[in-house]
Amino acid sequence: MIVTIDGVAASGKSSVASGVARALGVPYVSSGLLYRAATLLGLEAGLRLENAAELLAHLRAQPLRLEALAEGNRVWVEERDLTADLHSSRVDRGVSVVAALPEVRAWVDGQLRALPEPFVAEGRDMGTAVFPQAAAKFYLTASPRVRAERRARERPEDVPAIEAALVERDRLDTVQSAPAPDARVIDTGNLTLEGVIGAVLAGLPARQG
Ligand code: DC
Repeated sequence: MIVTIDGVAASGKSSVASGVARALGVPYVSSGLLYRAATLLGLEAGLRLENAAELLAHLRAQPLRLEALAEGNRVWVEERDLTADLHSSRVDRGVSVVAALPEVRAWVDGQLRALPEPFVAEGRDMGTAVFPQAAAKFYLTASPRVRAERRARERPEDVPAIEAALVERDRLDTVQSAPAPDARVIDTGNLTLEGVIGAVLAGLPARQG
């Protein structure tokens, strides 16, 4: 069984996916980490990120492994754990370019489809492009202001800048991020994390057995 949780940037997808996965006792899968890993490896190799052929050849030569657990995901290249480096600002800046390359999207999709079921997959296009056959699909939204306020909880003065950056991220991500026609859309604006997890669990088809 596959459950997909897509949504806009900073809508709480990974926390929700992790909570749902824990409740179900299955792993969660963060597809964004694979785009981030592709970006990091390209930057470290000094590649021009828009050169899809070069980047793909480099990625294919790496024994990359996504370790998907309910508590969190890690990305490994052989014995090296890349995870701590995947949220740096240079990866943040480069990842939209990399995620726009169809060749990279196909590479990520291949990695995801090779994972053993069951799992909860989180990203932008899990319910549309990657797992259209998923048992249940969800799409999380919230206004840019609400998302910026959540990100800047300790620094209210940063809200306008974070909100502007989120609007720009939304614009760059629109190509691949749209709800599947059969997804349940959840506006997380007035819900706590537990509330969103509860709404997803309530929306799952009754389990057999
Ligand atoms: O969810 P995140 O912030 O870790 O995602 C990183 C980037 O990857 C972001 O620019 C959106 C992109 N992404 C994507 O295009 N498709 C996905 N399924 C997941 C992430």
